[in-house]
Amino acid sequence: PQKKGLPDLMNKYQSHTPITMVTAYDYTGAYNVDAAGIDMLLVGDSLAMTMMGHDSTHHVTMDEMLHHCKAVANGVHSSFVVGDMPFGSYEVSPQEAARNAIRLVKEGRVDAIKLEGGKRVVESVRSIVAAGITVVGHIGLTPQTATALGGFKAQGRTANEAKRLLEDALALQESGASFLVMECVPEILASHVTKQLQIPTIGIGAGLGCSGQVLVYHDMLGIYPKFTPKFSKQYADLGSQVRKALTEFRNEVTNRTFPAKQHTFNMKTEEFSAAFP
Ligand code: KIV
Ligand code: NA
Repeated sequence: PQKKGLPDLMNKYQSHTPITMVTAYDYTGAYNVDAAGIDMLLVGDSLAMTMMGHDSTHHVTMDEMLHHCKAVANGVHSSFVVGDMPFGSYEVSPQEAARNAIRLVKEGRVDAIKLEGGKRVVESVRSIVAAGITVVGHIGLTPQTATALGGFKAQGRTANEAKRLLEDALALQESGASFLVMECVPEILASHVTKQLQIPTIGIGAGLGCSGQVLVYHDMLGIYPKFTPKFSKQYADLGSQVRKALTEFRNEVTNRTFPAKQHTFNMKTEEFSAAFP
């Protein structure tokens, strides 16, 4: 299949066909997501946790994000690739935001960038859009500023918070964002916001009313050892399968049943005798 572009994704949105998105952080992950026909692939800054084992997304740098984006680019044929702007790469000034977004496109070969926040980031969104780069917004639970939001919990559950969420969504659309990720938002509110917008929403913990859904690769495949969030469905238990395979290898080496004949190379006995008479 051909590379998916913005028009293909907008066609899905217009025809009310849900858009699919999954994170991936390296060549093999990207290969799998792409081969499964997932529309959009997110090189999320969640890689700080899933790939690096940090306890928050704060600690991943631009250079580290670029390293993962480059690996993903080699595994993708068809999926539309979005790269996350890491914490610290867009808050200081709109100019710096554009400069870092350009690096993700130019060096990391992503098709679009994603950044967190509502009204507070619209100047950065404008600056990145003005550079010709497609922007994905991210509102609701924004992990980079979770402490300020009172922790990892659902957002927009009071009347004031709900109104502010819609204002943030409209401000992002107004400033040129092409998609909006909504994380940990009550289903009724996420559906309402989706109906008020003319751009697709991609939900995670935001219910069926969004224009699409995103999940974290490690969560949905059961390979992140620390926890699985309530909103993530585990479609496989690969972690236990990986550990089972590794234990089997360890046992077979220990009791000398691996390698077997078919894993070894032969040599003519006369050649061996000629070398070592
Ligand atoms: O980094 C990430 O994986 C994300 C998704 C949860 C949307 O931002
Ligand atoms: Na992220």
